[in-house]
Amino acid sequence: MSEVKVHPVKAHIAQNALLDDTGYQAMYRQSIDNPDAFWGEQGKQIDWIKPYTKVKNTSYDPGHISIKWFEDGTLNLSANCIDRHLATRADETAIIWEGDSPDEDKKVSYRELHEQVCRFANVLKAQGVAKGDVVGIYMPMVVEAAVAMLACARIGAVHSVVFGGFSPDALASRIIDSRTKVVITADEGLRGGRRVALKANVDAALANPRVDSVEKVIVYRRTGGDIAWHEQRDLWWHEAAASASADCPPAEMNAEDPLFILYTSGSTGTPKGVLHTTGGYLVYAAMTFKYVFDYHDGDIYWCTADVGWITGHSYLLYGPLANGATTLLFEGVPNYPKTNRMAQIVDKHQVNILYTAPTAIRAFMAKGDEAVEGTSRSSLRIMGSVGEPINPEAWEWYYRVIGDERCPIVDTWWQTETGGILITPLPGATDLKPGSATRPFFGVQPALVDGEGKVLEGATDGNLVILDSWPGQMRTVFGDHDRFEQTYFSTFPGTYFTGDGARRDEDGYYWITGRVDDVLNVSGHRMGTAEIESALVAHPKIAEAAVVGVPHEIKGQGIYAYVTLNAGEVPSAELHKEVKDWVRKEIGPIATPDVIHWAEGLPKTRSGKIMRRILRKIATGETDSLGDTSTLADPAVVDRLIEERSRVA
Ligand code: PRX
Repeated sequence: MSEVKVHPVKAHIAQNALLDDTGYQAMYRQSIDNPDAFWGEQGKQIDWIKPYTKVKNTSYDPGHISIKWFEDGTLNLSANCIDRHLATRADETAIIWEGDSPDEDKKVSYRELHEQVCRFANVLKAQGVAKGDVVGIYMPMVVEAAVAMLACARIGAVHSVVFGGFSPDALASRIIDSRTKVVITADEGLRGGRRVALKANVDAALANPRVDSVEKVIVYRRTGGDIAWHEQRDLWWHEAAASASADCPPAEMNAEDPLFILYTSGSTGTPKGVLHTTGGYLVYAAMTFKYVFDYHDGDIYWCTADVGWITGHSYLLYGPLANGATTLLFEGVPNYPKTNRMAQIVDKHQVNILYTAPTAIRAFMAKGDEAVEGTSRSSLRIMGSVGEPINPEAWEWYYRVIGDERCPIVDTWWQTETGGILITPLPGATDLKPGSATRPFFGVQPALVDGEGKVLEGATDGNLVILDSWPGQMRTVFGDHDRFEQTYFSTFPGTYFTGDGARRDEDGYYWITGRVDDVLNVSGHRMGTAEIESALVAHPKIAEAAVVGVPHEIKGQGIYAYVTLNAGEVPSAELHKEVKDWVRKEIGPIATPDVIHWAEGLPKTRSGKIMRRILRKIATGETDSLGDTSTLADPAVVDRLIEERSRVA
């Protein structure tokens, strides 16, 4: 292995940081030795209507997976994110909105946010939305997306945000699974100068005969573009809000009442509805935000994630707002209209903390100094990375070019399921090693296990598991607790299995190596190979398909699809395009295959199981290390695949 460079904690950061290494060690110890005392104390950082008397009540026992935190406390999340700041910071900015076009922006104060959320909460109530009802949010990156989420939380409705880049089919399947009652959308979104037909996609999704739960569609007018209108079902946001009262007391919610569902991909089946509840989630999001980004009052914070992903939930909105921070919400894409847009926004709004993804960093890196042309970025103090492993070259570039070697980088490892960050450096406490997510956050006990589940000690590689619960952990798969247990707790009984592999070095630092299951991570977007395969085989000309991930310079992973056509069909350039477009339409542009390999046959065992190990090797050209192929039903298939690969465009 090449020598690892260490970046020690910076003196100017340590001087003002919330925690130094001694502080981290002491708090970490306490969090593990006495989780009840630790979280009992930390839970007080948020406001409770009725304080909890119980803290942790969790079981990873096979057959009895149950996760409860602060279970007898009551609270309201929107009151924690808004109302409680009104006494001290009503006129301070809660959200800075930066439009797709650099000429459009606005600031929303905590007072204004409060009014908008209350009004919209009353709109939802007037449409019959009650505690426990599921509200779908399919929105562009506008302030109203945040308002919609907070309004749900205010009245105890459960939001299910669906990324605006997903197709009507993907939206429909999430609506069906969650039994969504009301959908909130916009006429069109605006990204990188292009319009996204959100309302038309909702119309298409609701035309699916299996969607029978949606009663109303509330439409925010963003572009004024032409849309179809269903008189009985659709209503305009601005019309409904204009007549709604701005007084809406927050509902009293139990800590374990559902807060939101967010769908995410696994190695098998359709996406799972990850369910998070109110109390533990908020405590964890608020606390991790504060310590991981070393948040100080007055900091301007920018997370580039979309509200459609967990990062957009926990660290664009809930974590920052619970801390009374100013959070920047950007409608567009980081390189539009020019490559230096991200850096320009940092300067324009004097951003102090920037949280983005390795894929964006690598795309900028490919453009060199253009990414920072004409900008100073001197306001930046802390920078973060999330979503996929960051390669040391990209880390160093981010550090040197964007941060001018002044800002520590927090490489934060976590998942939709974990609710918040689990493994991460803390700016004033942790020496950094580029490419390593470093050490566990408070209350988090990572371990590495071998294939049999034996816990491995010392510096080693293994499957990453977490030995005990933390407050931000998902509680169940919506509507399917067995699947929850099966997916996360059955591989290595007694532990939560993350699906990731990792290495631990001699300093106890963790290096996440990526998924060990059939989940892909393309530009930080998580996708199941099974989902893409089922989209492919739904094409009338396709008989069979297998998808594997291959290294990609910018996206981290690219999608390599082996496709077997029905008898009589012939590969062609037109069909190649047709198949790619098909997947875009079925799932969304993020799932478009990078490579289509027309395969006459796929390598299968005698029992008919596709051997992906071999497909991965062939896709990456590692054909001299294919391993044992003797168990294949037809070993000749391998030679054919290798030969075909030479013709793949
Ligand atoms: O493989 C890990 C990778 O992203 C997966 C989780 O994806 P998702 O649920 O979409 O959440 C992404 C945002 C939290 C993980 O299983 N991942 C996430 N962060 C990192 C990472 N891999 C390496 N380093 C990270 N910092």
